Amino acid sequence: MPGNFPNWPYPNLIAHRGAGRHAPENTLAAIRLGALHGFTMMEFDVKLSRDEVPILLHDDTIDRTSNGSGAASQLSLKDLADRDFGAWHSAAYAGEPIATLYAVACYGLANGLHANIEIKPGAGQDAHTGRLVAGRASELWRHAGLPPLLSSFSEIALDAARAAAPDLPRALLIDGAVPNDWRARLDTLACQGIHIDQRHAHPDLIADILAAGRTLAVWTVNDPARAQELLQAGCHAVFTDEITRITPAAMRPPN
Ligand code: G3P
Ligand code: MG
Repeated sequence: MPGNFPNWPYPNLIAHRGAGRHAPENTLAAIRLGALHGFTMMEFDVKLSRDEVPILLHDDTIDRTSNGSGAASQLSLKDLADRDFGAWHSAAYAGEPIATLYAVACYGLANGLHANIEIKPGAGQDAHTGRLVAGRASELWRHAGLPPLLSSFSEIALDAARAAAPDLPRALLIDGAVPNDWRARLDTLACQGIHIDQRHAHPDLIADILAAGRTLAVWTVNDPARAQELLQAGCHAVFTDEITRITPAAMRPPN
């Protein structure tokens, strides 16, 4: 919402996939670990189960991050509850259940954590997922001090999210080089911000985005010096997997 949400009210460090390198990505265990390391905002990926429950999962299928297989869109929440989403990472996390948006909202709200919900639709489910996830987020966070920030690579999902929950802030995620028409895309979607790949976060582009009054967050930054450089350049936030080396305590505030 350019104009209505001009500043970045969130922390400048965001744990990526919950804090999903040192714990299994997109689980409550990962979010808890991020919080233990001082992170107060987490990004996580959300899509729908077959019975339309918003769940945390990066890939279309559960193959990589569980002991099961198949597309999440073909599995019910009951099917997913019978799978282990932690043992693939390490024995310490064996038995970790699938995380639902409901569970992470409960944990985040009870512990003062902010959320970046990346809407990550299964194949062909962009509008439906955008609408349902944004609607549910708006309901779950209705009493929160700060709303969850929605983002997506899918412009269709973001458009549907806007229609379902116009008051939630939104950011467009860009995969690869940032297209020259980024301003027009943000305007069309009424997105306040843009989240870009750190490999394409060049100083001129950063300056242009900031001069346009948009919020800018950069993913995924795992080198402490690069994180510091991006924050000093004025980026509002960086996403990181490196929750032990890039910590709120270790980063100098931007000038
Ligand atoms: O939201 C930033 C980042 O998570 C985008 O990439 O593939 O890790 O979801 P990915
Ligand atoms: Mg993500």
